[in-house]
Amino acid sequence: TDNLTPYERIGGAETLARLVDIFYNHVKRHPDLAPLFPEDLTPVKERQYQFLTQFLGGPTLYSDIHGHPMLRARHMRFPIGTAQAEAWLQCMEKAMDQTGIESGIRQQIFDRLRLTAHHMINQWEQKE
Ligand code: HEM
Repeated sequence: TDNLTPYERIGGAETLARLVDIFYNHVKRHPDLAPLFPEDLTPVKERQYQFLTQFLGGPTLYSDIHGHPMLRARHMRFPIGTAQAEAWLQCMEKAMDQTGIESGIRQQIFDRLRLTAHHMINQWEQKE
């Protein structure tokens, strides 16, 4: 399994589609996240599915359609603080549990997602 991509190791398109679906079910029930998202999550799920596919070494679905991800720039119109980043990661952790993603590769994937989530932070708490 050494030369497989993380995408292949988790089970490819089928696993990723389930992960994304479960993830946004948590997002829409999380009080720190839900207000940021539109009622209809279908297009968001689609773009996240495309993005995570290429992020994990699968086909470049996202860039083929939308160009360079520029994720931080695309998140600038939403107020994202530490609470939102942690909430996002919490939803992802639960979704990975429920999708049954195996532990070895899972830690690696989660570590990269943690960095990415913290990179999205664009609001800091005011000091007294
Ligand atoms: C889009 C929130 C982290 C990937 C979005 C949207 C919101 C959002 C509100 C836009 C939904 C819409 O189109 O109306 C957040 C928050 C995060 C976070 C609060 C907390 C840190 C991440 C991370 C990733 C990611 C870590 C990737 C691993 C994406 C992608 C899109 C998106 C690919 C679609 C971008 C586009 O094509 O417009 N996010 N996000 N987000 N997010 Fe996040």
